[in-house]
Amino acid sequence: MTEDPQWTAFLQWVLPQLRMRWPGFRKVRTQVRKRAHRRMQSLQLDGLNDYRDYLQQHPDEWRVLDTLCRITISRFYRDKGIYRLLADRLIPGLVEQIRREGRSQLHIWSAGCGSGEEPYSLAILWAMQLQQRFPDITLRILATDIEPHLLNRARTACYPFSSLKELPAAWRESAFTASDGRYCLQETFKRQVLFVEHDVRCPVPATSLQLILCRNLVYTYYDEGLQREITQRLVDALQPGGLLVVGSHETLPDNIPVFTPLSCNRAIYKKPV
Ligand SMILES: C[S@@+](CC[C@H](N)C(=O)[O-])C[C@H]1O[C@@H](n2cnc3c(N)ncnc32)[C@H](O)[C@@H]1O
Repeated sequence: MTEDPQWTAFLQWVLPQLRMRWPGFRKVRTQVRKRAHRRMQSLQLDGLNDYRDYLQQHPDEWRVLDTLCRITISRFYRDKGIYRLLADRLIPGLVEQIRREGRSQLHIWSAGCGSGEEPYSLAILWAMQLQQRFPDITLRILATDIEPHLLNRARTACYPFSSLKELPAAWRESAFTASDGRYCLQETFKRQVLFVEHDVRCPVPATSLQLILCRNLVYTYYDEGLQREITQRLVDALQPGGLLVVGSHETLPDNIPVFTPLSCNRAIYKKPV
């Protein structure tokens, strides 16, 4: 990666004003720089100093910059250890709990769902490993993202092989139909997932959830104050005993008393019963 101290200084000036944090952008700064350069070209600006002036004179430009700072990489079955744990222990535990409460729907929210890779991984996992064991339970997944074009791609649900390569081969073969080098998810796996446009910084779109996946977004890119605000809303959206899953390299800010990390995996937090 080429070093560009001027760009780093610019990002370090910009990010706190967007309530974002520099360490999250260290690895992806070149990607964001390319987008910012294209934006500066379209505005016919000569360099970062001009862009800084432009931002000060045009407050609306901050919204554009916010979109330029969105990292959208995802893939099916990302961090497979988490999915294994969900299938082997955690989802069965949640099912027992909702059965005790006399309910029959398992409600999951995938926040920042990209093009559907995360919620569809859950839908496939449910069908392949859990559905037969829990025939009385219906899975409902709400999948939200801020980017309408990703949500459209998610609804179409056709992917290149590179997005699927971590999925167990047998699941890939039974869940997808290959056509013209793309792999399209069969309808039966799409039915449980509802895609909705939503900004994770806004009030939550659902409550009484058993499981929230909020991975590789809030706890990587946002500053601590915003992380705390969002975490409080996630706590409120979960049922007692519900679980929050963050990215495998992420942790919640310190001293969030309403969550305890599971001893078996530091990326999973439980709301007390
Ligand atoms: C790095 S991807 C992670 C996708 C998936 N959760 C995963 O772990 O593979 C981050 C996703 O969050 C979305 N995103 C960015 N800012 C958002 C916001 N404010 N509200 C909701 N989604 C957002 C991006 O469009 C992108 O799809």
